[in-house]
Amino acid sequence: MARLEQSLKQSEEFIAEAAHRVRTPLATVRSYAEATLQRVQKQENRDALRSMMRAIDESSRAAGQLLDHAMVTFRAENLEREDIDLDGLLCELVQRMSPVAEMRDVALHLESAGPAIIHGDAVLLQNAFRNLIDNALKYAPIETTITIRVQKTPRISVDVIDQGRGFVPDEMDKLAGRFVRGGDTGDHIGSGLGLTIAQDVAHAHDGTMILSNRSEGGACVTLLF
Ligand SMILES: Nc1ncnc2c1ncn2[C@@H]1O[C@H](COP(=O)(O)OP(=O)(O)OP(=O)(O)O)[C@@H](O)[C@H]1O
Ligand SMILES: [Mg+2]
Repeated sequence: MARLEQSLKQSEEFIAEAAHRVRTPLATVRSYAEATLQRVQKQENRDALRSMMRAIDESSRAAGQLLDHAMVTFRAENLEREDIDLDGLLCELVQRMSPVAEMRDVALHLESAGPAIIHGDAVLLQNAFRNLIDNALKYAPIETTITIRVQKTPRISVDVIDQGRGFVPDEMDKLAGRFVRGGDTGDHIGSGLGLTIAQDVAHAHDGTMILSNRSEGGACVTLLF
C-alpha cells in the first residue's frame, strides 16, 4: 500500500510539473506577443499577432485540459474514496470561480439542500464541476445567472443550469466524446475535453452525466450519483 501510494504521488507530481513546464513558456510568449501588439501599427502585422495569441491560448488550454484529463484517468483508476459533502465542495468552488463570473457579470447561484454526502474523490469532483461551470460561463451570455442545484432525493444529484442557447439537439449524444466540440462554439477557445472529464468523473463514482435543454431555454448538465 505504501509503495502504491508513493507511486500515485509521484505520477500526480509529474502531471502537475508537466503542466507547469508547458504553460509557463507559453505565458511568456503570449506576453511578448501582447507587448508587441501595442507597438505595431500595420494592420497585417496586428492580425498576425492576434492569430499568434489565439494559437497560444489554444495550446495553453489544450495542455491544461490534456493534463487534467490524464490526472482524472489516473485517479479514477486508483480511486481513493472518503466521505465528501458535495454542498460544501460546491460552495467553495463557487467562491473560487466568482471573480471570473463577476468579470462576465454572471451570478453563480448555489441552491443547496443541506449536506449531501457521497463517498468519493474531492479532487476529481472539483475538476468535474469546474468544467461544467466553466462551460456555463463560456457558452451563456453575460448578465445571466448560473444555477448549481444540489438535490438529495431520490438520489444525490447536481444540476448546472445556465441561461444560454443550450445544446444543439443533434449533437448532444456526441459532446462527451474526447476532443468533440459543438458546431456553434464561435470564438470560444476549447479543446473538447471538459464534458469528457466530467463524464469520466461521474462514471468513476458509479454515477452518470445527463445533458439536457430546458424548456425555458438554457443548458442543463446533471451529474447523478
Ligand atoms: N453550457 C453549454 N451550453 C451550450 N453548449 C455547451 C455547453 N457546454 C458544452 N457545450 C458544447 O459542448 C461542447 C463540448 O464541451 P467541452 O467542455 O467538452 O469542450 P469545450 O468547452 O469546447 O473545450 P474544453 O475542453 O476547453 O472545455 C462544447 O464545444 C459546446 O459546443
Ligand atoms: Mg468546456
